[in-house]
Amino acid sequence: MKEREKFSSRLGFILISAGCAIGLGNVWRFPYITGQYGGAAFVFIYLLFLLILGLPIMVMEFSVGRASQLSAARSFHKLEPKGSKWHLYSYGAMLGNYLLMAFYTTVGGWLIAYVYKMAKGEFVNVDPDFITGSFSTMLQSPGYMTICMAVVVLACFAVCSFGLRGGVEKINKILMLGLLAIIVVLVFRSVTLDGAAVGLEFYLKPDFSKLYEAKGGLFESIFAAMGQAFFTLSLGIGALAIFGSYIDKERSLTGEAISITILDTFVALMAGMIIFPACSAFGIQADSGPNLLFITLPNIFNQMAGGRIWGTLFFMFMAAAAFTTIIAVFENIISFAIDLWGWSRKKAIILNLVFILIISMPCILGFNLWSGFQVPHVGNIQDLEDFIVSNNLLPLGSVVYLLFCTSRYGWGWKNFIAEADTGNGLKFPSKLRFYFTWILPLIVLFIFVMGYIQKFGA
Ligand code: PHE
Repeated sequence: MKEREKFSSRLGFILISAGCAIGLGNVWRFPYITGQYGGAAFVFIYLLFLLILGLPIMVMEFSVGRASQLSAARSFHKLEPKGSKWHLYSYGAMLGNYLLMAFYTTVGGWLIAYVYKMAKGEFVNVDPDFITGSFSTMLQSPGYMTICMAVVVLACFAVCSFGLRGGVEKINKILMLGLLAIIVVLVFRSVTLDGAAVGLEFYLKPDFSKLYEAKGGLFESIFAAMGQAFFTLSLGIGALAIFGSYIDKERSLTGEAISITILDTFVALMAGMIIFPACSAFGIQADSGPNLLFITLPNIFNQMAGGRIWGTLFFMFMAAAAFTTIIAVFENIISFAIDLWGWSRKKAIILNLVFILIISMPCILGFNLWSGFQVPHVGNIQDLEDFIVSNNLLPLGSVVYLLFCTSRYGWGWKNFIAEADTGNGLKFPSKLRFYFTWILPLIVLFIFVMGYIQKFGA
């Protein structure tokens, strides 16, 4: 068999994994969810989840990828004990990646549309109704959204077509470094605005009573924080495992996972540092939900001196984050077909390109022609896809990885620790074995069930 292509450097691996993790989850979902669930207290719970649950599961995913040298489509087949059924989850993982892209590409399309609108000065000196109208006009235009989505899909597959090192690794590095540079500039602009302090306080000073104010009460807030922790780290559907399969055994995996989690958390926290002070400086509430980015923020830039430039930079920042994730997930999707059927990279890219264009359509149509389709307590097609992935496949898939690595009926603790700890660097805290084996899966399942009861009950 042909030797698997590897990243050219450790930095390449860390940045691509961080690029996969850093995405709409950080720059779009995190700020609006934090706004909805009341600010700092929510952020606190989210950070706790990253540490006690996200980080260990990330190490597990990387270990499964590195030990099997395969994507999620085949990794369980290779590592599971003979006769067991873990490999059935390969379908869940593949479904998760496709379904994620089915709505993610649409939001990616909105972002490039907004980079263009901002740069062109469409939102300079207009009244707020115009900005709201502009977003809803876009949602009512399936043709326009399809073009934007298709541009994103084509561009990202084009990057993948240059190969792992020459395309994915290289472009990702450029986008990530650009993104980190833009963040610094935007944070500085935002926190130095007059009136930024109120927003900073909302964001940084916890008021735990706010967690009870959500419709579904405390559990809904906790469920949302847990979902966000899985989503932002890209856990549960093998989206990171694939990059474990592209590295050698020189570094142990816990240290690498910590670097990636820190980068991801830094970007999410900074996105909040840009958005909340800007909201308070212009007297705007930050709890508007998913519209926060596309209605609230253009309004802010509209009022801000030099808003056209800041706004353009801001949407470029968002778009870069989304692109790195899409490229990373496409790489994973391409490798499914290669691992499963031995397709050439080229064939896998062309067929997946067509397939992704098709499955991205329902999300777009769900805002206009198919807007009659509404799932009670969930919402339109995009909400449904997001709900299936973020609130179901990611937590449940994470439990699958967790049990696979800790249970003797799966790959098993010994194998997992041996793989995770191979190489220089921090070792996995194996003293906490009891916690990982028994408590952690129960925490996830408990919150999962309570979240369901809150969301769909009475
Ligand atoms: N982590 C990505 C983001 O924050 C989303 C993602 C989830 C990517 C799951 C892959 C797998 O946008």
